[in-house]
Amino acid sequence: MVAVAILAAGRGTRMKSTLPKVVHELGGRTLVERALDSVAELSPSRNLVIVGYGADQVKTALAHRTDVEFVAQTEQLGTGHAAQQVIPYLEDFEGDLLILNGDVPLLRSQTLVQLLTTHRQNQNAATLLTAILPNPKGYGRVFCDAQNHLQEIIEDRDCTPEQRQNQRINAGVYCFSWAALKEVLPKLSADNDQKEYYLTDAVNFLNPVTVVDVADFQEISGINDRKQLAEAYGILQTRIKEDWMARGVTLIDPASITIDDTVTLGSDVVIEPQTHLRGNTTIGSNCRLGPGSLIENSTIGDRVSVLYSVVTDSAIASDVRIGPYAHLRQQVSVGEQCRIGNFVELKKTVLGSKTNIAHLSYLGDATTGTNVNIGAGTITANYDGVQKHKTILGDRTKTGANSVLVAPLTLGADVTVAAGSAVTDSVEDDALVIARARQVVKPGWRLPTAE
Ligand code: UD1
Ligand code: MG
Repeated sequence: MVAVAILAAGRGTRMKSTLPKVVHELGGRTLVERALDSVAELSPSRNLVIVGYGADQVKTALAHRTDVEFVAQTEQLGTGHAAQQVIPYLEDFEGDLLILNGDVPLLRSQTLVQLLTTHRQNQNAATLLTAILPNPKGYGRVFCDAQNHLQEIIEDRDCTPEQRQNQRINAGVYCFSWAALKEVLPKLSADNDQKEYYLTDAVNFLNPVTVVDVADFQEISGINDRKQLAEAYGILQTRIKEDWMARGVTLIDPASITIDDTVTLGSDVVIEPQTHLRGNTTIGSNCRLGPGSLIENSTIGDRVSVLYSVVTDSAIASDVRIGPYAHLRQQVSVGEQCRIGNFVELKKTVLGSKTNIAHLSYLGDATTGTNVNIGAGTITANYDGVQKHKTILGDRTKTGANSVLVAPLTLGADVTVAAGSAVTDSVEDDALVIARARQVVKPGWRLPTAE
């Protein structure tokens, strides 16, 4: 059995923020949620998050995680003190406890799997994730013998100048045999430069302890300030983009593109510059996205192109062309082979397949059948100032240029709306509707002239 404890009670003063550090977002997820997600592959039976500074904000940020238990650390007296707070929660627990700092968001699951595997193979009391850093300043230094057995961890500020030369650092990620850790936690003292209870001292008391060096030291980057937050975003983006390129996606000018790690892409997708894919987004194969597009929380089929457009919370079927300058938002659903063109906004609208809406239109709360043609400048008047109303258009119906469809309204199949109509009443199948004043021509008429 594995339990996880995430240390998330610190303030993070260097963020210079009213938010606790661990609720800052990195690529769409908070730091603490990323720490939790990195352990998911170990299928922990318990997820404890130790909260203190801004506890309510941390709890709110994790409110959707019903698998998390919060442990209060009312005074922040150090990482060892934070770990002591879990003792009453794990009275009956038998197994291994993984402890992570809440501000280390880039850990890979495989790294944690490797840490746990080493821990179990060696039957260790504790196993420590370490890294060899070119610039180890600020981190606790880890001293080992030739067999990777831990001798001591010494905090940077407690090191002698010679000890500081050691580049092997403590990542702040530990696997403990809980039976062993709970014996030593009560024995910690605050006899150090910071007058804090150090979790690293608990490690120093235990035996046997071995270390696992992480291959890619960027994984253990901790976030202490906004600069490190931005750097972590860069690391994350590089990782995601290199991964997609290796899997058959073309990125034109990768530096100008951002892709959340919650996005999935099909093969032979081409992503053009200044395109951003966010949230829960799935893209089919052979799509061309961008330049200049934002796609968020949306599902897109195969062979779809999205040019200079914004698509959020929507579902687009295959062979659809969107843009330039279209905006699809709030549960739009587009059928196959539709064309949504220049300056078109769709909101909560369902388009049947092979429907065209090519220029300068707004459809809100509308549903169309298949093969519908929405003429340039067609607008649904869906809001009466109090409520939103629906517009329904049947198969093969065509609206003329500059039509206003005043909802609630149902037009049947094969209806043609004359250009410039303001349609207020529903129309049955197979009809032409003209809802505008007739043109009046007065032959020979001139403007009156002054005397
Ligand atoms: C710690 C390690 C150090 C390691 C480094 C890696 C100790 C004593 N030192 O140092 O060896 O190299 O992490 O990043 O552990 N926290 C609490 N309650 C507290 C204090 C801290 O929950 O009372 C949380 C913080 O919110 C943070 C984490 O623990 O998420 C780490 O605390 P921090 O003070 O940043 O430790 P470091 O000085 O970085
Ligand atoms: Mg720190």
